[in-house]
Amino acid sequence: MARLTIIRQDNPLIRKTSKVVDEFSPHLHEILENMHETLLHANGMGLAAVQVGVLYRMAIIFSEEYGPVEIINPIIKVAKNPRFDTEGCLSCPGISGRVRRPHLVTLEYQDRNGQKHNRTFHGMDAVCCCHEIDHMNGILFIDKMEK
Ligand code: CO
Repeated sequence: MARLTIIRQDNPLIRKTSKVVDEFSPHLHEILENMHETLLHANGMGLAAVQVGVLYRMAIIFSEEYGPVEIINPIIKVAKNPRFDTEGCLSCPGISGRVRRPHLVTLEYQDRNGQKHNRTFHGMDAVCCCHEIDHMNGILFIDKMEK
C-alpha cells in the first residue's frame, strides 16, 4: 500500500468528470487500497478517486453506520430531508462553509468486484456520499457553499 497525493482545488484535474468503472481488476483494487490508506492518514470522512488524480467514478466513505464503504459508479435513487451542515474538503484545506444536502440518500452502486448494492445512508453519511458524488462530476462544495 502507498499513500497518494491529494490534489488541491487549483489543480484543473479536480474539475474533470470521472469515467464509469467497467473493469474490476487487481489494479483497481490496488488504487482503492491506496485511497484507503490516504484517507486514513488525512483523517477525512471521504475521498473520491479524482482527488488522487484517478478519473474513475469511485470513492471511499468512512461511514458512521457501516464503517468503510467503497462506492463505485453510484446512482442516487432517493434523496430526502435536506439540511444545512458545515462541510470541508481535503482538496480545499482551510475552507469550511454551510451546504444544504439531503440527510437520507439511497444509492445504487457497485463494490470492487462489480457486485451491485442498494443501500440507504443517513445523516452525515448521506452528506458525505453527495459530496463525493459531486467530486465525480467536477463539483466542489465551495460551489454550493452559502455565501
Ligand atoms: Co471533497
